[in-house]
Amino acid sequence: MWLYLAALLGLYFLRRWYQERQTVENLTEKYVFITGCDSGFGNLLARQLDARGLRVLAACLTQKGAEQLGKGTSERLKTTILDVTSTESVAAATEWVKEQAGSKGLWGLVNNAGILWQMAPNEWLTKEDFVRVLDVNLLGTIDVTLHMLPLIRRAQGRLVNVSSMIGRFAYSGGGYSPSKFALEAFSDSLRRELHPFGVKVSIIEPGSFATEFDETYKKNLTNLWNKLPAEIKDLYGLQYWNNFSQTFFNGKWRNTDLCLVTNCMQHALTSRYPRSRYTAGLDAKFIFIPLSYLPASLADYIVAYGRPGPAKALC
Ligand SMILES: *[C@@H]1O[C@H](CO)[C@@H](O)[C@H](O)[C@H]1NC(C)=O
Ligand SMILES: *[C@@H]1O[C@H](CO)[C@@H](O)[C@H](O)[C@H]1NC(C)=O
Ligand SMILES: *[C@@H]1O[C@H](CO)[C@@H](O)[C@H](O)[C@H]1NC(C)=O
Ligand SMILES: *[C@@H]1O[C@H](CO)[C@@H](O)[C@H](O)[C@H]1NC(C)=O
Repeated sequence: MWLYLAALLGLYFLRRWYQERQTVENLTEKYVFITGCDSGFGNLLARQLDARGLRVLAACLTQKGAEQLGKGTSERLKTTILDVTSTESVAAATEWVKEQAGSKGLWGLVNNAGILWQMAPNEWLTKEDFVRVLDVNLLGTIDVTLHMLPLIRRAQGRLVNVSSMIGRFAYSGGGYSPSKFALEAFSDSLRRELHPFGVKVSIIEPGSFATEFDETYKKNLTNLWNKLPAEIKDLYGLQYWNNFSQTFFNGKWRNTDLCLVTNCMQHALTSRYPRSRYTAGLDAKFIFIPLSYLPASLADYIVAYGRPGPAKALC
């Protein structure tokens, strides 16, 4: 009985392995629009797909980012400037994509643009801190998606959203995690809505990645702590803050290889059978996603284990 079960399971994985290796045809005629190509995942993905022969339409926030990307890539890759928080800018980018891709439509949209703003205990933050990150990560992505949808439907193409492992397990306060939870929800509903049109929707959940912005991010976070009212500082205490900031920037367990993420994105765009969800990074696969399935009380215990609590907590 167990043998049959094992054989069935083996067959299932073999079939899946085989299916996942099938790529779509005529990749060199396909247009892919990527947001947030100035740095990080977007930048690497643009280069990677360009090298693969796809027609990359790369949106950068800054002129400098666009120029640098243009230099290291082929003639096929085109760049534009896009601020996802401005609807005029999104509309202009949509017109530009229409001109570039023409009647073929848009094969792929990768909603990658996002910011990481102040992940900290919620009580340390203001509404504006939340607005700032939701505006880019959530509303920006919604706006770009709604504008581009007709073009993607025409190509029966692919939508790829970047969420995060903390879109499944809220490890820290601040607007970042809620923005990613919301993206998971939108992606789920959109996947069901667009299936009848032949459009496939995937979401990528990267773990924690070390980036070139870590230093400024740490500076911003330290600023936040320094400017807290004395009574809040008293309440939480220096030990709490030290542990919070150090666990955050303890480089050892964080991923450094951005390809872990861009390879998932490439698969979502080029495989005939893209997955609905991709988890990238060992921390996401083996710590955070499993944590999200545990009963809340157990997950809370694990997260708090060994860390100093607030100085003035009830004992
Ligand atoms: C690929 O391109 C060729 C020539 O343009 C065309 O005949 C063929 O139908 C295309 N295949 C797919 C799957 O679109
Ligand atoms: C991506 O997120 C946006 C904003 O939440 C949502 O409108 C869209 O449906 C999502 N798309 C995909 C492909 O997940
Ligand atoms: C740090 O703060 C400045 C000023 O608000 C902001 O422009 C910058 O994007 C922040 N950097 C990071 C990595 O959060
Ligand atoms: C912070 O907490 C972790 C446990 O999560 C512990 O291993 C570490 O030593 C603590 N660091 C400091 C500076 O207190």
